[in-house]
Amino acid sequence: MIDSTIIALGALVFALFVWFRRSKGGPLPPGPKPMPFLGNIKDLTTKELWLPAREWAKQYGDVVHLNVGPISLIFLNSPEACFDLLDKRGSIYSDKPQLTMSGELCGCKHMIAFTGYGEESRQQRKLMNKAFGLPAIPEYYPLLSNSTNAFLQDIILSPNEYLKHIRRYAGGLTLSVVYGYEAKSANDPFLSLAEESVSILANEIASGGGVWLVDIFPFLKHLPTWFPGVGFKRKAISWKAKMEEFAEKPFGFVKDSMNSGTSKPSFCSTLLEDEDAKASDPNFEFNLKWTANSMYSASADTTITTFSHFLLAIMKHPEFLRRAQEEIDAVVGTDRLPTFSDRPALPYVDAIMAETWRWGVPVPLNLPHRLMEDDIYREMYIPKGSLIFGNVWAICRDESIYPNPDTFNPERFLEPADEETKRRRNPRRYVFGFGRRLCPGINLVESSIWLLLVRVIATLNISKPKDPVTGETIEPDVTFENPIFRIPSRFECDIKPRSEQTLRLIGESELA
Ligand code: HEM
Repeated sequence: MIDSTIIALGALVFALFVWFRRSKGGPLPPGPKPMPFLGNIKDLTTKELWLPAREWAKQYGDVVHLNVGPISLIFLNSPEACFDLLDKRGSIYSDKPQLTMSGELCGCKHMIAFTGYGEESRQQRKLMNKAFGLPAIPEYYPLLSNSTNAFLQDIILSPNEYLKHIRRYAGGLTLSVVYGYEAKSANDPFLSLAEESVSILANEIASGGGVWLVDIFPFLKHLPTWFPGVGFKRKAISWKAKMEEFAEKPFGFVKDSMNSGTSKPSFCSTLLEDEDAKASDPNFEFNLKWTANSMYSASADTTITTFSHFLLAIMKHPEFLRRAQEEIDAVVGTDRLPTFSDRPALPYVDAIMAETWRWGVPVPLNLPHRLMEDDIYREMYIPKGSLIFGNVWAICRDESIYPNPDTFNPERFLEPADEETKRRRNPRRYVFGFGRRLCPGINLVESSIWLLLVRVIATLNISKPKDPVTGETIEPDVTFENPIFRIPSRFECDIKPRSEQTLRLIGESELA
């Protein structure tokens, strides 16, 4: 009896809540039908949520609404909807979800991707723009070149371990750029700490869209850890300790090495010496420490994902590799490795890079933004507090922008087109996010990934492996387990130097 009264009351409150929201100036955007109380929880998946999200886009249009309890989730499925809201209305669409589990209990609230829109995020982005604005990028060229060469030397020694090498490349590059720290091997303690922390962040804390029961019912955080069903609190305690260690240790390394006069120039050391930067922010060191940490978290998995998609695509389509190699041979020759000055003459390599991002879509649902005020868009009501997902996956698979979208075809970018079409089909406008939270690493990766791809293409042959017994070609079979990044699971791949000459070039390439 009591149970049925509670259920009836709950249903009434829920109905009033839904009615109240709908009555505020228009209907909510369309979307899959929610269940009472729990909303669309059954529609949300922890793996590849972008797949159903693309189907919703086809069924309901370019703005789709779902809810989990009282939290609205809005999926923006076209460039127009993303730019109209996340960019043009950026003053209210640039907040980040302040989730009890990830932000408060797990201690991630100071990482840039989690900081609310306000003074802290502005200060952090100012620091990042200083380090990674377009004018600063050429300063990193020597470091990018050495890291790329080290990667090539590693990969020809043990090609089967390509994933370990790309991890070391991505992590080592960031540790170098951000902290001036040189990772000596793939087992380096800072690399291991960073990998473990990033994995906890992406695979545990942010799994299932990052929304935990305690985010919907924050009073649960006050329950003692021994209470049944409060396992999340016990997990959060150990994850928070790891996140703090991950922020503190490499930052401590920079300060110690500056004190002992052994530091190498880096994002942190440059800013720690910058008296103007210090004077402009009362929380300077704190902001710097968390900004540095955020860069690591944001850069490693995205870089690894990009490279894995490149391998996967090229393995399936050796004809594109051959054409890019012919372009490089004609422009660069075979006596040296390509450099940044060759880039304008290598449009085919650029097309491969653009198609790798479009086809691979490293962050398919972007990182969620949070709406700070009630809003009306095309007569639809979008409630304050909604989590807004830019559905980059749906855009990059939109046939009206990219014919045969599931096919990897770099040549689509070389087809003549008017300026508007070129702009619309440029995947960089989508895969790095939107508006005031746009990825601050965009200029750095434009150079780092380019150099990595062009040197790999110039020196290596990549193909599907053959079964050693039957001699038959092994087809790659990949799954996507990570809820945020579209990282392919490990796959077999045959990687060899293109020739004796390229082997010599790799062996003689500069490392320092
Ligand atoms: C291929 C490589 C990369 C891709 C595809 C990528 C993509 C993204 C995306 C989609 C976002 C979310 C933007 C939004 O919320 O609208 C983001 C945010 C971010 N990225 Fe990247 N990223 C890459 C590399 C990097 C690198 C190398 C760095 C640092 C050096 C970096 C630093 C960040 C940071 C700090 C944020 C959070 C920004 C904020 O919330 O204000 N990213 N990135």
